[in-house]
Amino acid sequence: MLNFAIQTARDAGSLLAERFGRALQVTNKSELDLVTESDLASERLIIDRIKTYYPRHAILAEESGASNPEDRETQNEWLWIIDPLDGTTNYAHGYPCFCVSMGLEHNGRMEVGVVYDPMRDEMFTAERGAGASLNGRRIQVSAVRHLAGALLCTGFPYDVRERSEFARHFANFIMNAQGVRRDGAAALDLAYVACGRFDGFWEEGLKPWDVAAGALLVEEAGGRVSNYAGGPLSIYVPPIVASNGLLHEQMMHVLSV
Ligand code: IPD
Ligand code: CA
Ligand code: CA
Repeated sequence: MLNFAIQTARDAGSLLAERFGRALQVTNKSELDLVTESDLASERLIIDRIKTYYPRHAILAEESGASNPEDRETQNEWLWIIDPLDGTTNYAHGYPCFCVSMGLEHNGRMEVGVVYDPMRDEMFTAERGAGASLNGRRIQVSAVRHLAGALLCTGFPYDVRERSEFARHFANFIMNAQGVRRDGAAALDLAYVACGRFDGFWEEGLKPWDVAAGALLVEEAGGRVSNYAGGPLSIYVPPIVASNGLLHEQMMHVLSV
């Protein structure tokens, strides 16, 4: 199933890359939240593939929601959690930072995660207990020990204007870390924590398809993911802190101020 996820994410990513930069039909889901025809085409490709090869698997996909498998007895045993285009705002503006994210849960536990960036042809993969890789090579989180030397990343939720605590957290991190980035694709941000490009990431208000694959990547690369209080992450209950592990307590401290 890992190979299936890799091939499917690669094909969906190629579809996004082919259409990238062309005039697009863009629809607003809310004031700031967009969907393009490419989100929909990528999701269609992925769902069609899963239905062909794994008709009994359930699917939770950003644009079409939850779909039931054909065999109701096995419902929810295997669940694909899909973001067909993470980084839609970037994509719609021609900013080349976006990815496809596919996570596969078995009985509620994430087993496989794939994040594919078609612009750089970077395929991040993880399988529970088997580590994480980038284009087939093992990756691990960074060894940065102190926040003062850390490059962090965050994302602004679409309802950021209603979240006053976000600006406080952001201000506190820029005063304490070496740098803070906002790349606009949460699944890719998590993949970058997994391979050590970022030392930590935090965001509130994410959805399961934003974090399903990326959280497994971070854990399998030796990092830590949790909620803001340090408890176990539920992909259905934001927020999320992800780090190389060494910085986790320091990041949670900043989030508690
Ligand atoms: C968004 C991106 C962004 C994050 C938002 C997400 P989308 O996903 O991951 O980085 O800050 O919270 O909703 O809409 O581009 O798939
Ligand atoms: Ca997303
Ligand atoms: Ca999306």
